[in-house]
Parts: sequence; structure tokens; C-alpha cells
Amino acid sequence: MNLNQQFELIRQSSTVAIFDRISAMKVGGQKIVGLHVGDPDFGTPQEILDVAIKAMQDGLTHYGPSRGFLDLRQAIASKLMRDEGVTYDPHTEILVTHGGIHGYYTATQSILNPGDDVLIPDPSWATHSNMAIMLRGNVIRIPAPAENGFIPYFEAWEKALTPKTRVIVLTNPSNPTGAYPMREYVQKLQDFAAKNNLWIVSDEVYGSLYYGERPTCAAAFDGAKERTLLVNSLSKSYAMTGWRVGYLAASARVIENALKASQNSITCVAPFIQKAAAFALSDPAIQEVTANMRAAYARRRDLVLRLSHELESEKVLVTPPQGAFYFFLDFRPLKMASTEICERILEEAGVGLVPGSAFGEQGEGFVRMTIAASDEDVEAGFRKIVEWAEKQ
Ligand SMILES: Cc1ncc(COP(=O)(O)O)c(C=O)c1O
Repeated sequence: MNLNQQFELIRQSSTVAIFDRISAMKVGGQKIVGLHVGDPDFGTPQEILDVAIKAMQDGLTHYGPSRGFLDLRQAIASKLMRDEGVTYDPHTEILVTHGGIHGYYTATQSILNPGDDVLIPDPSWATHSNMAIMLRGNVIRIPAPAENGFIPYFEAWEKALTPKTRVIVLTNPSNPTGAYPMREYVQKLQDFAAKNNLWIVSDEVYGSLYYGERPTCAAAFDGAKERTLLVNSLSKSYAMTGWRVGYLAASARVIENALKASQNSITCVAPFIQKAAAFALSDPAIQEVTANMRAAYARRRDLVLRLSHELESEKVLVTPPQGAFYFFLDFRPLKMASTEICERILEEAGVGLVPGSAFGEQGEGFVRMTIAASDEDVEAGFRKIVEWAEKQ
């Protein structure tokens, strides 16, 4: 019997093997400094838990509206207005999704036809490519080289354009590099998309985690809303990865398709979780708690930059991330495959990392290290990494 052949085009990520190995080593009693997971080390604020528990006690444990409760959609619209300066109608232009990943699924499912070309920077989060392939898109990777701050040279987009090009996928800021383009670049890309009749899907799940100038929301330009699909979630910004709640904001006709995709895949996001999400997005005290989390990431980022200055390694090169909570460490001087680097650092130095090649060909020679871990782990882990590299 035949299987779905699309899956032959998706390679199993090398990160799975590394994750399994790390778990086995931990179970075996070995002490591992885990700098591999993209999950905040903070707990979800207690007040958010309280709202969810109360909602459950109040009986919100059955099916809920597929589009999401109106109060949550209103909270999302207010957030988008407050932080990004873009207006969305909570009645027709917002869909509540099962995390950012499902927001991305409903986005691509709504606009993609089989064989459409989808342009995705390399490196980027593997799901962006994998999902587009699952949905029978033709993925074209656009190099985002370290030498250009991990942003594609603009000509690379133009060069990749074919009559079949339909979609550009942005991550703003990027996992794994933390990079994001300046406002002028996004404007130029929007002009390019308008001229060539392209959709822009912008994944902004790290949008509130930045260390300098605020990233420009891809929809924050005149006329951009009609061709832009914003994907976001509460996972990273509110330390709510396990709650699985996010959203898609787009024009009403896109949301109509996305709603069908959502109804026919998940029915709805759990109603008590929706209530907690509405509270998280709108309560002023919670915004302060999340601001403190952002301050902790900024402190750890400074810590790594200080250490790298102090240790002066020529084997591990450090670019300061502009956003998100990762360093994309450059090990190219070692001329070793990134999977080998990660396996050996794990075995020989006891630090868990993710190979850069998991994010695309351009990630080869790089390694992703998270700073979503305690200051002690970040410092101890980074010191061990550099020590290991210096011995090579
Ligand atoms: C760029 C990017 N988008 C989306 C997600 C998934 O987010 P969520 O947990 O909200 O599904 C991740 C998770 O690592 C990510 O890195």
C-alpha cells in the first residue's frame, strides 16, 4: 500500500537524534547543561494559571468557537494595535490557533496550491519548509548568509522569482539567528511582493524579544495587510509553550479559508486556554512580568558577549543576536560538520546544542545555543563550549 510520498521529501531532523541522546544521558544520571531547547526557562505566571483553572471550574471544558472567543480576538487585535500599529477587525480578520505552528499551518493551507514556489530564507526554523512541502509546495531556499547579518541579499529574492512564485516566508526575528531586517528592507520586500503578486507569511512569534530597535511588523505598511499573513503565539513571549495557543491575523478572505482548515483539523483551541490567553495578552501586571523575562534574556545575551570577549576564541565566533533567545555560534574555523560538533560537545563537554544544519544548508558549520536557560547554565555551558573548541 502506498504512503504519502511528500514525506519522502522531508528529512528527519538531526535534532531528534541529539534530543534522544541527551534524554538518554540524563536518564543515565549524567549531568548535561541543556542549551538546546527553544523553550523559556521561566514558569507561566501564576495569575494566568489561576484564570485557566477558574475557567475549567466554571465549565469551559467543552467545545468552544472555532474562530476563538471574541474577547480573545479583541485582546489580540488590541495587542496588534498597541505593539505594531496595525488594525485588525476581531470579527473577521483574526483566527485563534493551536500555537504558532498551527497558525503557520492554517496560513499556508489557506493560500498554497500544489506546485507553487515558496521562498524561505536559509537558515530558518525547519517547520517552515517542512510544512510547505507537506502541503505540496515547491520550497526554494534563499541564502541568508552570516556575512550579510543572516539577512538575504535583496537580489537573491529577485533571482529566485519564477512564474510559479506565490509565497515569501519571513521569520521576524529569526530562529536560529535572531536576525531581522530593518524597516526599509521590509518595505522593499512588500513592494516586491505587490509588484509580483506574492503573499508574505510573517512568523512573528519572537516579535517581542529584541535587544535594539523594535522589529517592524511585516503588515505595518500601506496596503500590506491584503497580502500579509501574520503568525504569532503566546509560547515564547509569555512562557506558555505547553498551552498551545497562538493566532493568525490576515484579510477576511484568508481567514475564511484558515477557519475551514482549523475547523477540520482541531475544531477549536481548548476554551479554558483561550480565557487564560485573553487574560495574558491584556492584563497590565502580566506585561510587566514578561518585560522582566525579556530583561533576563538581555542580561544573558550580555553575559555571553562579555565571556566571548574575555575568552577571545578564534575557533568559536560570536555574532550578537538582534532578537529571539539564541546565539548562532560560528564554528566554521574548525571545518567540521555541525552534527559532529554537537555530538562531540555533548559527549566530551556535556553540553546539549542543536546543529546549524538542522536549519538549512547555510547553517552548516554553525551551532544553535539557547539563552532560555539559567544564567549559571548559560555561563557554564558557554565556557565548556569554548574550552572544547580550543582543544581542537
Ligand atoms: C520561528 C518559530 N515559529 C513558530 C514556532 C512554534 O511556536 P508555537 O509553540 O507557538 O507553536 C517556533 C518554535 O520554536 C519557532 O521557532
